[in-house]
Formats: sequence, C-alpha cells, structure tokens
Amino acid sequence: MGMLLKYIHVDKDEFRLIKVGCYELLLHPSVYPPSEDTFFLFDTLDFFINSLKLKVVAEPCTGSGLVSIRIASLGANLLASDLNFLACYVAKENLKKNTLYYNVNVVCGNVLDFVRGGSLSYIVCNPPYLPDERKDLDRFLWWNGGEDGVELIEKLIASAKNTLKRGGGLLFLASNLTNLTRIKNLLVKSGFSLKQTVAKDLGEEQLIVFYSTKES
Ligand SMILES: C[S@@+](CC[C@H](N)C(=O)[O-])C[C@H]1O[C@@H](n2cnc3c(N)ncnc32)[C@H](O)[C@@H]1O
Repeated sequence: MGMLLKYIHVDKDEFRLIKVGCYELLLHPSVYPPSEDTFFLFDTLDFFINSLKLKVVAEPCTGSGLVSIRIASLGANLLASDLNFLACYVAKENLKKNTLYYNVNVVCGNVLDFVRGGSLSYIVCNPPYLPDERKDLDRFLWWNGGEDGVELIEKLIASAKNTLKRGGGLLFLASNLTNLTRIKNLLVKSGFSLKQTVAKDLGEEQLIVFYSTKES
C-alpha cells in the first residue's frame, strides 16, 4: 500500500493545539483525534506492562502519537509509524513536545513493513478495526478494517510474527463489531498465545484489548 499523499499543500492554519490531561497535542483534520479507543489503550498499557526500560517498542497506526508518548515515557526506545504522512508529522511534533525525544523515531509506512525481523520487544496498536466503514479517504484510513474488520489486524499479526522477538508481546485493540473468532484463529495460527483480553462497554459498542505473546 502506498503512502497517503493527498495533501500536496498543507496550510499552517489547519493545525490546532489541544490539551489532553497533562499533554499538549498538535492535531490536523486528517489525523485521527484521541478518542475513547485511544484512551482505553493508553490506560490498559499500564495494566500489562509496567516498565519498558531498554525495550524496543513499536506503535504502528500511531495517529496523533498519544499512546506513543505513554510508551516513550515508560522508558522504551520507541518506533511510531502511520500510513498518513500528516499523522507522522503531528506524532513527531507531539513526541518532541512531550517526551525526552532522543528515544523516539517516527516512520511513514505500511504497518511495520520496514522493521528488521526479530528486533522488537513489544508492539502496541489501535488499528482500523471496523467492518466496511465510510470510504472517504481520511476517515476510511482511520476506521476501515475491511469486510469483517480484520484486514489491518491480519497484516499486524503477520508483521508481529516477523518483527517480535520470541516471548515478545502484542497488544492491540478491536471491538465486538470486529470478527473476534477470526482474530483468535489468526493469533494461534501465527504462533501467538493469547494471554488476556480486557473489555470496555461503550453502550452501542464494546472495545476489546488483546494481549498475546509470540511463542514460536
Ligand atoms: C483508529 S486510528 C488510531 C490512531 C491512534 N493510534 C489513536 O489511538 O488515537 C488508526 C490509525 O491507523 C492508520 N493506518 C491506517 N491504515 C494503516 C496502514 N496500512 N499502515 C499504517 N497505519 C495505518 C490511520 O492513518 C490512523 O492514524
């Protein structure tokens, strides 16, 4: 999949600053703003992982970079990425503002296609996970997980199989609208052991975080 280069000219006035807790974040209309799922993954991180010191952690699909800020502040060497180059721009600015910065990198690309095999300790991701969402370009990239919501997650699991060290952890988010049985089957088929899921009820939708480790 090619990089998203829809915005040939980007106007400075299109950007805005928001405050999320103690963080100041730069946003652009084409970048996914921190939302319920972002905050759920952000909070869940601490439940599974308490120290990331000396760990190499990737967050593909980083969007505004809020989850990456948390990962970097737990001491990780962080690699954040997104297919949307404006997401990469704001994530980089947000990481500069809110972390020590020398322990972070931002790359524009498809999931983790550019990462060397067996190099990562953890992968954390809030991917597009909804079945057949709207087809307009920006928001399509935000949510669209293909027919059963698993298209990007399938690619994520395949990338995780290649790029994680043995024993490495894969933490990602989906919803009850995603084909959860297919996710579980893909994890097993790819040599992952599903350790735990944590759910959050939003009324119409339930968010689910999967935590699994690479066994083979
Ligand atoms: C649901 S948003 C999550 C954004 C952010 N992680 C958060 O939690 O707020 C999904 C993100 O995935 C990115 N994305 C979609 N397809 C991608 C792909 N093939 N490779 C990398 N990033 C992708 C979108 O641009 C968007 O930023």
